[in-house]
Amino acid sequence: MNVLLIGSGGREHALAHKISQSPKLDKLYTIPGNPGTEQFCENISINSSDFNSITDFCRMHQIDLVIIGPEQPLVDGMADYLRSEGIKVFGPDSKAAEIEAHKSFAKGLMKKYNIPTAEYVEFDYTQQEEALNYLKHIKYPCVIKADGLASGKGVIICNNFSEASSAIQEIFVHKIFGSSGEKIVVEEFMQGDELSVFAVTDGEDYFCLPASQDHKRIGDNDRGKNTGGMGAYSPAPIATPKLMNEIERKIISPAIQALNREKRKFIGCLYAGLMITVQGPKVVEFNCRFGDPETQAVLPLLEGDFLDLLYSAANYKLNKKAVKYSGGCAVCVVAASKGYPDSYQNGYTIAGLDSFNNEDIYIYHAGTAKKNNHIVTKGGRVLGVTAVEKSNDLKTAQRKAYDAIKKIYFTDMYYRTDIAVKAFKESKS
Ligand code: AMP
Ligand code: GLY
Repeated sequence: MNVLLIGSGGREHALAHKISQSPKLDKLYTIPGNPGTEQFCENISINSSDFNSITDFCRMHQIDLVIIGPEQPLVDGMADYLRSEGIKVFGPDSKAAEIEAHKSFAKGLMKKYNIPTAEYVEFDYTQQEEALNYLKHIKYPCVIKADGLASGKGVIICNNFSEASSAIQEIFVHKIFGSSGEKIVVEEFMQGDELSVFAVTDGEDYFCLPASQDHKRIGDNDRGKNTGGMGAYSPAPIATPKLMNEIERKIISPAIQALNREKRKFIGCLYAGLMITVQGPKVVEFNCRFGDPETQAVLPLLEGDFLDLLYSAANYKLNKKAVKYSGGCAVCVVAASKGYPDSYQNGYTIAGLDSFNNEDIYIYHAGTAKKNNHIVTKGGRVLGVTAVEKSNDLKTAQRKAYDAIKKIYFTDMYYRTDIAVKAFKESKS
């Protein structure tokens, strides 16, 4: 099979790594890829919004499957376009991707189909006064979310009315989220542990990968701003078989069926971001693709032919036996540029990337570039350092990940020191 992967982050490096292990693979290409994916793919420089040139590329190189990593091209209709040209795609059409593109759509769908989630109200920018009035009379904390895409950063948790009214000012007047903030969703604050569940689906049937936990805040102990994700571990001990069964029954299966009924059949990875509350699992958000950095912790744990799993989904006939999880765990720690998620400097040389000869350590590139035969920083999240442990001992995986990240150096390198710590608290209770 000739395969084309779209994207350039740590998630795509992890996808490329896993796909490259498939006996069915002839040649893997990435548009645009990064210096890490080059190890497994040929990186091709075509603008990802130029669907026409991508289609020509697929024809010329006899591409059997296109895998779309990030949300933006999915939301922009890349899958629709390629499918209409007769090309097989792993990734939803834009109508199905709306489950991530518009929180108001996702919330409405959940309400209509009784999928557990936080109570909510929505307002648009013409309703600033109504929003403030509403916010005067609610319980705090509350959560204010931009309706549109915001790279995981469009959420403000407000502890009182004064914080909520500044959030309204920032979103509607100063437009900190641009057009993504033309509408907002105000949600009840949910308490509990977070969990990410990836369901690979052909639109009807689905297969859940081992559950993981992301670390969204920039600082240790979940302090500071929200980011795209600073680290992950998998499997999350809270995701017992009983809980996973409940999640599939109440959330994953109903969501796939709901999209189907609404004529928005979802082919790809449906990512459920969940809060495990005392009332049970509730949806924080749905995403229309694999999570980043969770993918970097989940994929190394899968045995079997991952490419076959994705191809079978894209071919409307999911082969649930293509992969299995039969033990082991992984921890991924993200090395970021100091300043992220706000502004940061690029262009620092990364040292230590060659100091690994351990097959349990994977250094996934996220924001890197090549400059005069050196790898330099080019992004907020620079690398994802994943350690895999064959036993189920997460503490060992965590130690291995931190031992590995200490061998890497670049100016202004920053990482959280508590990735996976929550898992130990949970497993004690
Ligand atoms: P989202 O972009 O919707 O995934 O939100 C980003 C992060 O904000 C989540 O991972 C949670 O940590 C937090 N969050 C979002 N919605 C809620 C909520 N209703 N209650 C508590 N925390 C939330
Ligand atoms: N890790 C969060 C996300 O991929 O949206």
